[in-house]
Amino acid sequence: MDSQSILDLLERHGQPHILGHVQRLSPGKREVFCRNLARLNLPLAFQLYGEFSGQKGSRTDLSSIGPAPIISIPKTPEEIQRREKAIHLGEALIRGNQVAVLIVAGGQGTRLGFPGPKGFFPISPVKKKPLFQLFAESIQALSTRYRAGMPLLVMTSQENREETETFFESRGFFGLPKSQVHFFCQGMLPTLTPGGKLILGDETSLLANPDGHGGSLKALYESGLAGRLKGQGVSEIFYFQVDNPLAKIADPAFIGYHRQEGADISTKVVRRQNLEEKVGIYGMVNGKPAIIEYSDFSPKDYRSRDEQGNIRYWAGNMAIHMISLSFVDRLNRRGFALPYHRAVKEVEGLDPAGRNEKMAGLKFETFVFDSIPLAQKACCMEVVREEEFAPVKNQTGIDSPDTARQAMNSLFRRWLTEAGGEVAPNVQVEISPLFALDQEELAEKLKGKKVVVGEDTYFG
Ligand code: UD1
Repeated sequence: MDSQSILDLLERHGQPHILGHVQRLSPGKREVFCRNLARLNLPLAFQLYGEFSGQKGSRTDLSSIGPAPIISIPKTPEEIQRREKAIHLGEALIRGNQVAVLIVAGGQGTRLGFPGPKGFFPISPVKKKPLFQLFAESIQALSTRYRAGMPLLVMTSQENREETETFFESRGFFGLPKSQVHFFCQGMLPTLTPGGKLILGDETSLLANPDGHGGSLKALYESGLAGRLKGQGVSEIFYFQVDNPLAKIADPAFIGYHRQEGADISTKVVRRQNLEEKVGIYGMVNGKPAIIEYSDFSPKDYRSRDEQGNIRYWAGNMAIHMISLSFVDRLNRRGFALPYHRAVKEVEGLDPAGRNEKMAGLKFETFVFDSIPLAQKACCMEVVREEEFAPVKNQTGIDSPDTARQAMNSLFRRWLTEAGGEVAPNVQVEISPLFALDQEELAEKLKGKKVVVGEDTYFG
């Protein structure tokens, strides 16, 4: 869009305060402002504002929600055998270079209050390795184990792209070849006031927000990265969030079930640990599998129990998916298919006098899990929380760095004791993915050795 079309658009959509601001700028700054504006999808923001205005936040109709088919943690010989088959299939796909790994890391991480992208957070119990390092090392270990060139895709926002790339570069991509790591940016949408007005972020740009993690599926396609990966023979994406240090990256069983089921998208779930835990819920809505965010339930429904006294909506979304590239294509071919959500959050912008001011901001976002009901086939698998889920969301308390470190420490201690080691109470243990990716590998490494851990210890 050229400068004149942008100004016309602002005029048509009742934004005189921005037009006035543009007129007060010097010609040089005006050009910069218009260039910045042209990078944002203003027409989409105005369209969404029109569609949403007047709508009160709608709650999902719970009368239509039922349990969805979920592959449970195997117990019977048949289930164990099926899992073995899935693992073999998953491993074959990894070896065949058909799997890439995608970290979504474009969020603003406001709840954690960490000054920097969340992936930089020093999380591991002994070495305090950042989240990104743990993930990169897992990929290095998997690449070695399967002799595969598993691409690592890192989605950032426009706000944290440069910082993130510099972080990887300055640390030598944590041992991965540079060519194995691909950064791409999700889109940004202007943040509006609840009254539909654009907000100045600074003198030459509008306040904008990343377009939600669903934007990863749009950006993968539009950046051409999906096409390039397909050209290299990749057919499946292992998707996860930057906030979970226990994510079992490219889990062969998960990849295998996804393929066995011929699914477009697959999801991992854990049992909600209590009625208070805030997660999305996997279930059937209007005959289709879907994830319903906790905030879409009434508090009473979200806390309800079934006839046996168990948590009724138990299947908690871990935000770990397998997504087929052919599905990514389909979601984009006729315009991006995911619906937008709106949220009102506190933001900081410039008031008309040019002073920083905290105010309510209306953000539009898409959610990756809204693609599930659009799939021809979806698959879901339950896993053990203690082995795979320790999200870092808050500064303190539940889902904080403390709880994540405890979970990592407990898991590593368990691997060690299962392998015949002895670990003193109150010591921290950390096992690098480069030393062992799982309990079996650790047991193999320590075979015939007596390991006694009496102080904080790092296996690397
Ligand atoms: C999310 C899920 C929830 C799930 C939980 C598991 C949503 C709406 N809810 O909750 O169902 O049970 O995780 O931990 O997603 N991100 C981007 N770009 C964006 C926005 C977010 O890359 O524009 C990334 C963040 O960097 C982060 C992840 O998405 O890695 C999660 O986003 P967040 O908004 O924190 O989701 P939660 O509310 O924690």
